[in-house]
Amino acid sequence: MSKAIKLITIVGARPQFVKAAAVSRAIARHNAENPGTPVDETIIHTGQHYDANMSQVFFDELKIPAPGHHLGVGSGSHGRQTGAMLDKIEQVLLSDRPDWVLVYGDTNSTLAGAVAAVKLHIPVAHVEAGLRSFNRKMPEEINRIVADSISDVLMCPTDTAVKNLAREGVTRGVHNVGDVMYDSVLFNSELASKQSRILETLKLESNGYFLATLHRAENTDEAGRLEAIFAAFAKSPLPVILPLHPRTQKVMQGRSIAMVPHVRILDPVSYLDVLILEKNARGF
Ligand code: UD1
Repeated sequence: MSKAIKLITIVGARPQFVKAAAVSRAIARHNAENPGTPVDETIIHTGQHYDANMSQVFFDELKIPAPGHHLGVGSGSHGRQTGAMLDKIEQVLLSDRPDWVLVYGDTNSTLAGAVAAVKLHIPVAHVEAGLRSFNRKMPEEINRIVADSISDVLMCPTDTAVKNLAREGVTRGVHNVGDVMYDSVLFNSELASKQSRILETLKLESNGYFLATLHRAENTDEAGRLEAIFAAFAKSPLPVILPLHPRTQKVMQGRSIAMVPHVRILDPVSYLDVLILEKNARGF
């Protein structure tokens, strides 16, 4: 039997758990079908997201393999959080010596994982490569550009992403592999219909509400933006269901935002619950 490929997957934030679930499932299938060329995957969880409803619920619901390493980095400024991740990821990579590192998306965990690996000459694969907002004030945009420029394999969700990379001169190792988040919706929709009780719990009728989420720094931290968004919610003809990220909850505690009765603020909900909320919303 040939030697297994040793892969370290780095995740830390909510959307990465969803993406990693799909890829870990594909790795397990590959290993079952190709016992001669197995991929030995270990997950590093940076701890960027740590509340139970921001992290553990995804591992439980989506049956993601338990992380081999939990770095417990937690929240902080960009520099402090990314620096702590770099330090701790490097230590794991030095002791585990993987053949490849796999990163997802555009969070600080993506950036730290890619930089730590490339400095140790470990090849990096990036899932969701090539996405661009063309707004360099977004921290995610910087994370994307850096991760893409140092990755060896760039797995793009669309042709547009492939073109974005080409415009930056990145053409080697670029593949359009499709959208892993779409795979995830297809795979989990039926399970969500069977398992989720969110409509009953919230006493919601199908098509009888709008769904909103709100957490990007440009929306929460720029003066007046949050107030303008809530003013728009106030004009909605239907109730607005708003599962709220802790970042937004914390920002709102310090601001006087006019509340409207038909905006229902919830704690963050699980992936299967959000699929059902999306499917039954009039719009979002
Ligand atoms: C991060 C990503 C963003 C992604 C989002 C998914 C970056 C730069 N941004 O943003 O691209 O869309 O995750 O949700 O990496 N907090 C808690 N509990 C937690 C996690 C966070 O209370 O479990 C609070 C903390 O006050 C923290 C704040 O939320 O300071 C922001 O968290 P952070 O991970 O820094 O950024 P996100 O806004 O989640």
